[in-house]
Amino acid sequence: MQNHKRPPASLLFIFGGSGDLNHRKLSPALYNLFIDAWMPDKFSIVGIGRRPFSDDDYRKHLLDGIQQFSRRKGEQNGKWQEFSQHVNYLQMDAENEADYQKIAEIVKQKEQEFGEHPNVIFYMAVAPQLVPDIARKLGPLNICADTRCTRIVVEKPFGHDLQSAHELNALLASMFDESQIYRIDHYLGKETVQNILALRFANALFEPIWNRNYIEHVQITAAETVGVEGRGDYYENSGALRDMVQNHILQLMCMIAMEAPGTFDANEIRNKKVDVLNAIRKIDREDVHAHAVRGQYSPGWMKGKELPGYRQEKNVNAESTIDTFAAVKFYIDNWRWQDVPFYVRTGKRLHEKSTIITVQFRPAPYYAFPPEAADTWRPNRLTISIQPEMDIRLRFQAKRPGQSMTLNPVDMIFNYKDAYDGDEPEAYETLLLDVMEGNATLFMRSDQVEAAWKIIMPILDVWETRPPVDFPNYAPDSWGPEDAEALIARDGHNWITMPQPHKE
Ligand code: BG6
Repeated sequence: MQNHKRPPASLLFIFGGSGDLNHRKLSPALYNLFIDAWMPDKFSIVGIGRRPFSDDDYRKHLLDGIQQFSRRKGEQNGKWQEFSQHVNYLQMDAENEADYQKIAEIVKQKEQEFGEHPNVIFYMAVAPQLVPDIARKLGPLNICADTRCTRIVVEKPFGHDLQSAHELNALLASMFDESQIYRIDHYLGKETVQNILALRFANALFEPIWNRNYIEHVQITAAETVGVEGRGDYYENSGALRDMVQNHILQLMCMIAMEAPGTFDANEIRNKKVDVLNAIRKIDREDVHAHAVRGQYSPGWMKGKELPGYRQEKNVNAESTIDTFAAVKFYIDNWRWQDVPFYVRTGKRLHEKSTIITVQFRPAPYYAFPPEAADTWRPNRLTISIQPEMDIRLRFQAKRPGQSMTLNPVDMIFNYKDAYDGDEPEAYETLLLDVMEGNATLFMRSDQVEAAWKIIMPILDVWETRPPVDFPNYAPDSWGPEDAEALIARDGHNWITMPQPHKE
């Protein structure tokens, strides 16, 4: 068993306890933390939902999720049996104020059982429109005034636009202190995303060249092969720009573009990120067409399977104008990044699942080799693969073996699987542990969320007022609409996909 400091005693209430997020992600994450001895010595998990469940049935329901979705399946030497004894179910109507007394009673009861006041964590794994109402009813419970131990975890989407995000922030601020509010962006919990900070700030090598003098442009691709997967009603109110760019992709951009933090303090790191968001150039409404491209998938074939288009998905309007693909070109107005384009794209039903960040360096300033040496000459490039591959590749020129002087690009590769044993924790494991430990570094602060909305609002406004005329405009198994290729080709670049090994 590993020897590390565990978080203090914790009591977790999961609103949406019988829902999908808890089934697929939260319970498996808590169970894995338990197996790895990261759960507190004293803890209790209470799933809250409307559906009737006995404790035993609820545990069975969670075990089923673990068997399907956890990185470690089911029973592990009696660990499930042990873990499940910490789990209970509370059937209650989240709209009924009187029911909230049941929560206060459980807190009292657990306090006695633990012999100390535990962290009390309220996890909002519910539809976004329910969050304000639940928060309003939790606020008056006297446990919530305890800023040291009581926390509320809010899932994305955090608001629907700048205005609603602002209102939600104001509401939460009237009930909780900012230090109690944990806004989740699960990308920040991914190992490979956290490693960007290590790559940039634990090595002296990259920082001197990490600027406009050496970097020509940056690309971020978050491509998915799945469609909306039964989430039509959510997606009809969202779209790719809201669902992925406003949060995950802008956060990745912050990690690449931020200045070095002075300390590893949560606020210091978040300050540096918010500086990036505030420096992203506002796109004028008249320029939106030149900076942003939207797409929607049509019916078609993928890996031998015939699939419906977005408009044919369940709970989707047959004439929907919602974007399932978005590509945007951003600029950051500061000394480090002036005039360096950041191209980002994301979409559903694309050719492959991959999230990669590419830092394209400028060409060497002078080239002395004979022309025939240089047929395949390429500038340096750093590729950070977030998922499903987890690696970092640095491409550089090498001399091909043989009597002639011929150059070609090769990759220096760091691969997690080769370098480390065991599987890496899932993002939700890291984030849930951080909530129990009270470490907010990987969570979004209110000003970050609002700054991110400000960036995409002009695009959303223009897209909403000028409906697309060409939807659906890309086939499944493609890389999105042709306009997305044109967006980057206009600047003389092309989208980079997951690099294949150069073997000759
Ligand atoms: C979620 C989005 O935030 O991220 C989903 O709502 C998307 O639409 C998912 O599929 C992608 O997450 P991951 O970790 O699979 O890249």
